[in-house]
Amino acid sequence: MKVPLIQPNPSRLSQLGAELARIEDSGVFSNYGPVNTRFERDLTDTLFGGVGGCLTVCNATIGLMLALRHAVDAAAGRPARAEATRRRYVLMPSFTFAATAHAAIWNGLTPLLCDIDPDTWLPCREAEDALLAQYAGQVAAIVPYATFGNCLDMDRYDRISQEQGIAIVVDAASSLGSLDVLGRGFGTGSRHSVVFSMHATKTFAVAEGGVIYNADPDALAAMRAMGNFGFTEPRVARLPGLNSKLGEVTALQALAKLAEFPAVVEHRIVLADQYLRSLPGWTFQKMVGQRHAHQFMPMLLPASYPGTRAAFLDELRHHGIGAAMYFSPHLAEQPYFRDTCVLGDLRVTERVASRIVALPMSDALTCEHVTLICELLRELAPLAPPAWVAADVLSSVAALSAGD
Ligand SMILES: Cc1ncc(COP(=O)(O)O)c(C=O)c1O
Repeated sequence: MKVPLIQPNPSRLSQLGAELARIEDSGVFSNYGPVNTRFERDLTDTLFGGVGGCLTVCNATIGLMLALRHAVDAAAGRPARAEATRRRYVLMPSFTFAATAHAAIWNGLTPLLCDIDPDTWLPCREAEDALLAQYAGQVAAIVPYATFGNCLDMDRYDRISQEQGIAIVVDAASSLGSLDVLGRGFGTGSRHSVVFSMHATKTFAVAEGGVIYNADPDALAAMRAMGNFGFTEPRVARLPGLNSKLGEVTALQALAKLAEFPAVVEHRIVLADQYLRSLPGWTFQKMVGQRHAHQFMPMLLPASYPGTRAAFLDELRHHGIGAAMYFSPHLAEQPYFRDTCVLGDLRVTERVASRIVALPMSDALTCEHVTLICELLRELAPLAPPAWVAADVLSSVAALSAGD
């Protein structure tokens, strides 16, 4: 068996010859061109019920940087500027990818790393509240990560923003296609930017690319200008700027992926379900929301495995199965972030990160593959029987030896 962790599956450019020729003939290759505009509109209609709008970016890391700058400036406002300089922290979980912290640091801000919930692996509410109280008046923004495509409680962040004047930007890198508790595309209606990735390894696989969703048209227009050098009219910068535009060829790939996407998500839901049914008693992430666009299948290495996690991954590799350790090391364990971030209490993060294993998921993976993978996993790490079974066996043995 040869099963990679992830098998990037962007739409095939080789089958889009006519559309590529049309781009060439148009002479428009970037600068929010017609293919990009169509993708933004179709994405908003398809995944967000036509509510709000989408802005493409060249990748989600740049999207986070841009959205954070916009949100922090907007939250500070002119009258509050003096106070804004005291606000130098960005609250985020340590259990996330490097990009989340880099986005804050590139904005001249300091990540303040909080713990996660032991079940959902989303940022822990109590941990966030404790750090917000400890650093009252010093937190410029919160960047919660919608862990592995899970759904965050957006109302809670909106409330915090209203009450404490804190900017919110959601890192939803792997959530494109996930549905919230009400069955809406995750982020729908949010007036805080929600940033998705379209990297080739994501479920919505393109190449390099990202999307900023926001239901506030003014916010989206401002970020669109910021992503084009801050120009609000041709070559006149009135806003902080960089170049975050997505080229037309990549937008074409994204448009083609959108057409395939419902089948991609459905297939992965079936695979995830197969994992859960084949490994009863194993610890998987508790998912919030109605549907999830699984990028891979994270689980915790059972305590019954006799060796180290590295040995477990080696065993899997030996059997042709790709696995990884997202996110281990977590941010606070990485030298650059240890030196630049402020750390909260990270006890749950330590526990989860030290046992996390990501199992294969891809468009090419089948239920038969999952069954075989799970058989091997059960062999490698047979779970101890639950306590009540053990107690039953012990009492039967006792009864037998007493001659009953
Ligand atoms: C949590 C998180 N944030 C941000 C990113 C950055 O996305 P991109 O590769 O599109 O820049 C990733 C990428 O994997 C991610 O996992």
